[in-house]
Amino acid sequence: MIKLFEPLALRGITLKNRIVVSPMCQYSAKDGFANDWHLVHLGSRAVGGAALIIQEATAVSPEGRISPEDLGIWNDEQVPMLRRSNDFIAAQGSVPGVQLAHAGRKASTYAPWRGEGAVPETEGGWPVVGPGNEAFAPNYPQPQALDVAGIQKVIDDFRAAAQRCLEAGFQVIELHGAHGYLLHQFLSPLSNHRTDAYGGSFENRIRLLLEVVAATREVWPENLPLIVRISATDWTEGGWNADEAVQLAAMLKTRGVDLIDCSTGGNVPKAPIPVGPGYQVQFAERIKAEAGIRTGAVGLITSPVEAEAILANGQADLVLLAREFLREPYFPLFAAQDLGVEVPWPAQYERAKPRVHKEVAAGPR
Ligand SMILES: Cc1cc2nc3c(=O)[nH]c(=O)nc-3n(C[C@H](O)[C@H](O)[C@H](O)COP(=O)(O)O)c2cc1C
Repeated sequence: MIKLFEPLALRGITLKNRIVVSPMCQYSAKDGFANDWHLVHLGSRAVGGAALIIQEATAVSPEGRISPEDLGIWNDEQVPMLRRSNDFIAAQGSVPGVQLAHAGRKASTYAPWRGEGAVPETEGGWPVVGPGNEAFAPNYPQPQALDVAGIQKVIDDFRAAAQRCLEAGFQVIELHGAHGYLLHQFLSPLSNHRTDAYGGSFENRIRLLLEVVAATREVWPENLPLIVRISATDWTEGGWNADEAVQLAAMLKTRGVDLIDCSTGGNVPKAPIPVGPGYQVQFAERIKAEAGIRTGAVGLITSPVEAEAILANGQADLVLLAREFLREPYFPLFAAQDLGVEVPWPAQYERAKPRVHKEVAAGPR
């Protein structure tokens, strides 16, 4: 039995296979609004057979955007275009998901092809917030430390965004607790030096994430799954680490979280990350085994055989692919063929479905 094409039930949703489009910023929105780019980008991957498509980091407030071109879901007018794209995704048999995010001290930065570091207010940047006043890096914005009212606003913004997600037709929410953005900034002792109830001990550092999870669950229906993406380690001495990640994951499991999407890094510039094929799979494996919660593996998974091995070895329940999906939107259709699994192609494309093994039919790609 090929695991990659086994369905997975998460609450009331059934994913048709285990292949997920990992969230990827497109830096193509204006004032947080989605447009045709997002529809075609996400829609193509639905046509390509992904089970779940997690829309890019989507800001819960304008100040929570990574760049001025990020998607947002902080007002009702942003909902209809998202609904259009989600209805299309669902019509292809894929599940539309979204990553809800607040960039904290890593907000107001340039899209990669526009520059690096802080966007000045004269170019559309804005004042940013964080657990404290320390910037992520010298060329990043200097944040203002959130006070308790500011923290409450963040929690309220996540709750309101989750409510809009429902109206927009999303069926899965992933909370962005990774890559050095606001929730991760609170988790890590390297970025959180607070002395109040939100800093210091492990219990205090995880408090904001737990409160955001609780607020999201208040409005997100029982029958719909909630995922949390974490960085399982800062890859830095004295930072957030895998032991803490396991402990957090076990607590999230009892608070209505269904799966942990296990990434790493992003909170420390130039951390020594041993990047290589499947380099983060070990964290999905450990969290699954020790916290007893479902996990997703992500990071340099590029071939159907690698993806299948991760699932067959019991290291994770889902695989998330990012860059490979930019190279090949139809990755799942070809993966099925490579692994000898029969999956339907979209009726419109049926006449192009290879009848023999891909290499034989088309030559090496
Ligand atoms: C263009 C691009 C945009 C990304 N944007 C996000 C994002 O919005 N949220 C997130 O959690 N990760 C983001 N990532 C990270 C990916 O989701 C993924 O974790 C990472 O690229 C490793 O997977 P890969 O080796 O399959 O690309 C982005 C990656 C790329 C290449």
